[in-house]
Amino acid sequence: MGHALVTGASRGMGLEWCRQLARRGDRVVLTARSAGKAEAAAARLAEEGLEVLPRVLDVGDEASMAALAGRLREELGHLDLVVNNAGINPKDAKAPGVFESTFQLAKLDPDEVLRCIRLNGVMPVVLVKHLLPLLEAAEQPLVLSISSWLGSIGAKTMGGHYGYATSKAALNMMNRAMALQLKEKGVAAVVVNPGWVQTDMGGAKAELTPERAIGGMIANVVEKVGLEETGEFFQWDGSRHPW
Ligand SMILES: NC(=O)c1ccc[n+]([C@@H]2O[C@H](COP(=O)([O-])OP(=O)(O)OC[C@H]3O[C@@H](n4cnc5c(N)ncnc54)[C@H](OP(=O)(O)O)[C@@H]3O)[C@@H](O)[C@H]2O)c1
Repeated sequence: MGHALVTGASRGMGLEWCRQLARRGDRVVLTARSAGKAEAAAARLAEEGLEVLPRVLDVGDEASMAALAGRLREELGHLDLVVNNAGINPKDAKAPGVFESTFQLAKLDPDEVLRCIRLNGVMPVVLVKHLLPLLEAAEQPLVLSISSWLGSIGAKTMGGHYGYATSKAALNMMNRAMALQLKEKGVAAVVVNPGWVQTDMGGAKAELTPERAIGGMIANVVEKVGLEETGEFFQWDGSRHPW
C-alpha cells in the first residue's frame, strides 16, 4: 500500500478515511485545520492501534498548503492518494442567517455563496497544484475529491442550496478541467458522491454509516479507477453519477 493524504480529518468522513486507509496498510497523513485537532484525531486512531501522521492543513489557506507540501516532500517524497474531503455546508454555520443567505432567493448574499464555492469548489484543485510534485513522484497517483448529489445539475430536483450545490457543481468542473490536464502527467482525478452519510453534516437520520460509505469508496473507486476513468463522477458504490 502507499502514501495517502486526507483533508478535513478531524471528524466525520475524513477521520473514517484515515482509519480505513491506515487499516489497509497505507501510511496516512491525517490533516486538520489546527495542530490540536489533527493530534486529537490521531490520538483516537492510536487508541485503536492505528498510527497516522497528524499534520496541519487549512484548505482555505494557500500558505498552509505550501508549508505542508514542502514538509511532505522531505518526509514522504511521494503521495499515491489525495482525498479532498474537507468541506463546509452553510446549513451547519453557527452564525444566524448564513444558511438563509445561501438558500433563500430573497436573502441571497453573494459573499456567502462565493465563500462556499471557494472552499468546496476551488481550493481542492489549488491543493493539487501544491501537491503535484509529490503526486508525479508516485507510480499510479489518484486524487479523489468528495462531491455530492447536490452538485449534479441533471439530478437536481429541489430548489435553493445556491451556495452548497453550486460549490459541488464547481468542484465537478474544476476537477474535470484539472483531470484532463493532468492525464499526460499520469495523475488520475475523479469526483465521488459519498451518499447521505451519518456525520455532523449528514445528521443522524442519514442512510449510510461512515464505515459503509468509505469502505465502498475504497473498494469500488480507490482500488478500481485509474487514468482510463480520469475526470469522471462516481457514486460511492462505484457506479457512474449523472452530471
Ligand atoms: N455527510 C453527508 O451526507 C455528505 C453528503 C455529500 C457530500 N458530503 C461531503 O463530504 C465531505 C465530508 O463531510 P462530513 O459529512 O464528514 O462533514 P463534517 O462532519 O461536517 O466534517 C467536515 C470536515 O471538514 C473540515 N473542514 C472544514 N473547513 C475546513 C478547512 N478550511 N480546512 C480544513 N478542514 C476543514 C472540518 O474541520 P473542523 O473540525 O475544523 O470544522 C471537518 O473535519 C464534505 O466535503 C461534504 O461536503 C457529505
